[in-house]
Amino acid sequence: MSKYILSIDQGTTSSRAIIFDASGAVISSAQKEFKQYYPHNGWVEHDPEEIWQSTLETCRQAMAEKQLTAADIAAIGITNQRETTLVWDKKTGEPVYNAIVWQDRRTADYCSSLIAQGLEQDFSDKTGLLVDPYFSGTKLKWILDNVSGARERAEQGELAFGTIDTFLLWRLTGGKSHKTDATNASRTLMFNIHTQEWDNSLLDRLTIPGSLLPQVHDSSADFGVTDPGLLGGEIAITGIAGDQQAALVGQACFKAGMVKSTYGTGCFMMLNTGEQALKSNNRLLTTVAYRLNGKVTYAIEGSIFVAGAAIQWLRDGIKLIQKASETEQLAENTPVNHGVYMVPAFTGLGAPYWDPQARGAIFGLTRDTGIAEFVSAGLQSVCYQTKDLKRAMEDDGAVRPSTLRVDGGMVANNWLVQFLSDILGADVDRPVIQETTALGAAYLAGLQAGLFDSLAQISELWQCQQQFTPQMPKAERDALYQGWQDAVSRVRSK
Ligand code: G3P
Repeated sequence: MSKYILSIDQGTTSSRAIIFDASGAVISSAQKEFKQYYPHNGWVEHDPEEIWQSTLETCRQAMAEKQLTAADIAAIGITNQRETTLVWDKKTGEPVYNAIVWQDRRTADYCSSLIAQGLEQDFSDKTGLLVDPYFSGTKLKWILDNVSGARERAEQGELAFGTIDTFLLWRLTGGKSHKTDATNASRTLMFNIHTQEWDNSLLDRLTIPGSLLPQVHDSSADFGVTDPGLLGGEIAITGIAGDQQAALVGQACFKAGMVKSTYGTGCFMMLNTGEQALKSNNRLLTTVAYRLNGKVTYAIEGSIFVAGAAIQWLRDGIKLIQKASETEQLAENTPVNHGVYMVPAFTGLGAPYWDPQARGAIFGLTRDTGIAEFVSAGLQSVCYQTKDLKRAMEDDGAVRPSTLRVDGGMVANNWLVQFLSDILGADVDRPVIQETTALGAAYLAGLQAGLFDSLAQISELWQCQQQFTPQMPKAERDALYQGWQDAVSRVRSK
């Protein structure tokens, strides 16, 4: 029997393929970065062909590294940057426009007009989301309204919409499957998370023809098989989840009250709320955590748009450092109370503020502020934002979050995780396998393919690599956080 699972993790800045064995250990991996396009202020696009080619190449590379053939791979799991919106021709598979990335703010005015008409409550009640350019629905409408001929072709049933998972599935199956899973659907502003169906009244409101939409399945399901020409044979695709939901699964947060936070381009904190679709009073999102055997598990989520991207900006934008890994030592050698605050609102502020017009700023500069303080403030901003989310979750109060499980590229930085624990005043656990997003997709695919039989079995595979406990006195923590709140209040547009 084939014993490996190929996990595709199509993220915001790179595509990755990771092969896992049935114990969840990484066997091989490949990664390829691709270009970001910023055609106008606040716009962010990806070239769909670069997304596709980098995905295919990394799959082939990861298999070749260990001389694996299609017969060695029991199943493929797909996880992806969520909300990013694509429309393509059903006959040719050709996209009609670039992928509009989740960070893109071009529909901010349209969203404001929906809010001004008093429509946010209805969207929010049904989808668990807020009316914000972040989600796919208004991006899809933008494509239909602005790409020549797109609306007519959509109305004639010639076009398909998908988030990245759906587009990759379409390409991998040679155009045979037009499907998504409930987690990705739950990020589109068009899907009713209570009935688990596309919502016709919201589609009408956004003027989206229903024929564009993919079928919605469980996160573990038979999504299709790969076109044999692509990876040297047919491989079943049996798991799909948005990357943050996949990370929740990879972190084995299967009980209500368990919480994880992932530090990639952005930071996304997700609290499992079990069968209850908890409604937040603090502008957090209610979302599908996973759907297995038709049963939905819900989560509340806080989404921060800029985490790792702040460090990327220090490196590539203003060139204060050469490598992200330098940040740990720079921060270690700087007292935490330097008084500099960076609010990295480059694409507005996400949860709990939801202010698309806010922009970034740095406060508290003095004559002796140097690179180390900028770097420290950048790392600290990620931790302060996490505290904003944790406070909002606690205030929403269904289940008090337990220990925070963290993952993503940034958590290799010990200083960051210790400061996070200090600022939160809570224990923070870092797992042995930090590729939790890809691992979660592998678990979902493996559940359907019979490599894993239950979530309980998966829970037993989770191992803590290091626990960080708070060391900072409460008064110091409160004073630092007060400074952050003051800095945020100064960049807000409303
Ligand atoms: O909601 C956007 C999120 O899915 C993107 O994740 O890891 O590509 O920053 P990441």
